Amino acid sequence: MLECLIIYKNQKPVNIKNICCIGAGYVGGPTMAVIAQKCPDIQVTVVDVNADRISAWNDPDVEKIPIYEPGLSDIVAATRGRNLFFSTDIEKAIDEAEIIFISVNTPTKDYGVGKGKAADLKYIEICARQIAAIARTDKIIVEKSTIPVRTASTIKDILEQVGNKADFQILSNPEFLAEGTAVSDLMQPDRILIGGDIDTEAGQRAIDTLVTIYNNWVPKERIVTTNIWSSELSKLAANAFLAQRVSSINSISELCEKTGADVGEISRAVGADTRIGDKFLKASVGFGGSCFQKDILNLVYIARSYNLHEVADYWEQVILINEHQKRRFAYKIIKEQHNTVSGKKITMLGWAFKKDTNDTRETPAIAVAEILLQEQAEVVVYDPKVTEQQMVADLERYGVDAAVIREKFKVCTTAMQAVQGAYAIAIITEWDEFRELDWAAVYRQMVQPASVFDGRNILHKQTMQQLGFKYFAIGR
Ligand code: UDX
Ligand code: UDX
Repeated sequence: MLECLIIYKNQKPVNIKNICCIGAGYVGGPTMAVIAQKCPDIQVTVVDVNADRISAWNDPDVEKIPIYEPGLSDIVAATRGRNLFFSTDIEKAIDEAEIIFISVNTPTKDYGVGKGKAADLKYIEICARQIAAIARTDKIIVEKSTIPVRTASTIKDILEQVGNKADFQILSNPEFLAEGTAVSDLMQPDRILIGGDIDTEAGQRAIDTLVTIYNNWVPKERIVTTNIWSSELSKLAANAFLAQRVSSINSISELCEKTGADVGEISRAVGADTRIGDKFLKASVGFGGSCFQKDILNLVYIARSYNLHEVADYWEQVILINEHQKRRFAYKIIKEQHNTVSGKKITMLGWAFKKDTNDTRETPAIAVAEILLQEQAEVVVYDPKVTEQQMVADLERYGVDAAVIREKFKVCTTAMQAVQGAYAIAIITEWDEFRELDWAAVYRQMVQPASVFDGRNILHKQTMQQLGFKYFAIGR
C-alpha cells in the first residue's frame, strides 16, 4: 500500500488553465477572487443561476459587488476581466474547466424527511447533473459547500450513471473562512484541507493538482490531505467545536449574572490555559451565521440516522443553549422595562450576525426582534451594512406577520436617528461605530430612565453608569 502511494505521489499533477465555480455567494465569490489573484495564469469563472447576483459582481462600480468583505473589492478590481469572470453561462464554464468547484448553498431542509435538521442537497444534485450532462472531458469536482459526510458518493453516482464516459475525480475541500475576515482567512489560512480518493492513482493525482494550486501561496505544511470522508466530517466537526465554545461560555454567562462573577474575567482566566486557548470565548447574545446551527443540526441528524442518540443529544444541547441565550436576552429587556414594552420604542443597534459583514443568516437579531414585536414594542433598527429590505425579508421568513412589520418595525440610516425617543437600546452586533458613539448625546435623546442592553459586551460598565444609563451586559 505504502509503495502504491509513493508511486502515486510521483504522478504529475494536471496542468490547470481553467477553473469554474458554481455559486457566486459568500464562499464562492471571495474564494475564487483570491485564487484568481494568486494564480494569474489560471482563468477563473464564477457562475450562478441568479442573474442579478452575477450582474452585481460585474457592476462597474466595484464597491457595489454583492458581498461586503474588507479588502475584497480591491482584489476584484485588480482581477476582474483579467483572469476572473462572473457569468450566467454555466454550460460554457463547465465545458471549459478542468476543475469545477461546487459552492452552492446547502440549507437546512424545510420540508419532508429530515425537515429542520438534515442538509438540503437538492442544489448539489442539480450541479452534479448539470456537470454530467455537459462534461465531455475529464474533470476534478471539488466540494466546497459544507455537506453531510458521504455526499461525495452521491455526486459520484450521478456523474457515473448520467455522465458521458469522462473521468470524474471528486475532492472535498471545505472552506474555513469566517465572514468579515474572509480575505485574510483565504490569504493566510490555518490549514487547507483536501480529501480525496487516496487509494487510487487518479484520486491521488487529483489531490496533488489541487495542492499545487493552493501551494501558489499556502506553504505545503499547511495543506492537509486526508481521505474524503474525514475531510467532509472535519468541516462539520470544526464548526460544531467552535459553536460549542460559544455555547459553553454563554451558559456560564447566565450563572455569572446570578453569582456576581464576571464572564469576561472567566474567559480570560480559562482561556489563559494554553490547552484551552482564548479564542471563541466571548459571551454574546448568541451565535448566528449560515454555518454553525445548520452544521450542528446536520451532525445531530447524521448521528441519529446511525442510532447514535447519545452523540446526537450531546451536540443538540449546543443549539438549545444558543436558542435560550437569544430568548433570555429579549426577555431581560422586557423584564427591566417593568414587564411591558407595549408601545415603547426599543432600538436595536446592529442586525448582521457579526461585525464587518452584511450577512444576516441566523442572526440573533431576528429572534430578539420577533419577541419584542410579539410584546407590541416599536422596534427601530440601525445597521451600517444591512438593508431594510433584507431585515424585512428575514422577519417574514421567520413568520412575523407582514402587518406587524409594517406598523411596528422601522429602519433608520444613522444610529443617532434610531435612538431618538427610545426607552432602551439593545446592542446586537459589535460594529466598531457603536463603541465610538457619543453615548452622552445618545443618553440625552432617550426617554429616562434610559437602558442599554449590551449583547456584545462592547461598552464600559462604569462609564455608561456615570453617564446615567441603566447598563446591562451579558454575564456581568
Ligand atoms: C456557503 C457554503 O458554500 C455552504 O456550504 C454553506 O453551507 C452555506 O454557506 P454561501 O456561499 O454562503 O454558501 O451561500 P450563498 O451566498 O447562498 O451562495 C450560493 C449561491 O449558489 C447563490 O448565489 C445561488 O444562486 C447559487 N446557486 C444555487 C447556483 O448557482 N446554482 C444552484 O443550483 C443553486
Ligand atoms: C464560521 C467558522 O468560523 C468558519 O470557519 C466556517 O467556515 C463558517 O462558520 P462565520 O459563521 O463566518 O464562520 O463566523 P464566526 O466568526 O465563526 O462567528 C459565528 C458566530 O459566533 C457569530 O454570530 C459570532 O458573533 C459568534 N461568536 C463568535 C460569539 O458569540 N463569540 C465568540 O467568541 C465567537
